[in-house]
Amino acid sequence: MHDLITQIDKTRLPHHIAIIMDGNGRWAKNNGLPRIEGHRRGAEVVENITELSREIGIKYLTLYAFSKENWKRPAEEVHMLMALLYDFLVNKKDKMIRNGIRLNAIGDIFQLPEEVLKILNNTIAATAQGKEMVLTLALSYGARDEIIRAVKKLADDVIKNNVATDLLSEDYFGGFLDTKDMPDPDLIIRTSGENRISNFLLWQSAYAELKFIKPFWPEFNSEMFLSCLVDYQNRERRFGKTSEQLD
Ligand code: FPP
Repeated sequence: MHDLITQIDKTRLPHHIAIIMDGNGRWAKNNGLPRIEGHRRGAEVVENITELSREIGIKYLTLYAFSKENWKRPAEEVHMLMALLYDFLVNKKDKMIRNGIRLNAIGDIFQLPEEVLKILNNTIAATAQGKEMVLTLALSYGARDEIIRAVKKLADDVIKNNVATDLLSEDYFGGFLDTKDMPDPDLIIRTSGENRISNFLLWQSAYAELKFIKPFWPEFNSEMFLSCLVDYQNRERRFGKTSEQLD
């Protein structure tokens, strides 16, 4: 790990890393464990990667913790995931405050059970002064749902304030998204060998570098995370320009 850390150029870090944490269930199955054990291990990895990101100097870390589609899972699994989330928010609040981590959430969070929503809002408020890193949990999140919710807010605004359609722009629209106060992700990592985005940050990922890796989320460790960063730094981000224009 030490060796990989020395390969990272601290002046060219991604500002925002987003992660699709996939494979908890398959990891559990391969190890003869119940699915929830995979999620429990996954929550420990969340803590490690959050800590490491802050230590390296990443300013925004966004984790896909529960999708809109995940509500369709068996009620028992949904219940256990909510319980894990609740425990995480209760038990890690002080550590987040100590480490200057500001908690944030995106998604249709009003669908969350009342007690989870309450502790979520409580932890968001308690960590609001954090200056080191913003940790965003995507909860009950679906990108198309986020876009439709944004369109509804935008339409209301257009009607109420009589906004001329000429004034509609990417920035104006982006101001209605859940991510309105965040930069777009520079790097999106997905674990477990699946090569898809699965309705995650569709608008915001327009220019993100994508990194799909084989290990399941409970296996994801510091070395793997650092090697994703090294790989990111070896890529050339052109944003539609030529290589020569970047010099
Ligand atoms: C995907 O694995 C993972 C999830 C649906 C939930 C992610 C949750 C955690 C990592 C733990 C709780 C999070 C926090 C923030 C405390 P999967 O179940 O889809 O795996 P599979 O595709 O192998 O079945």
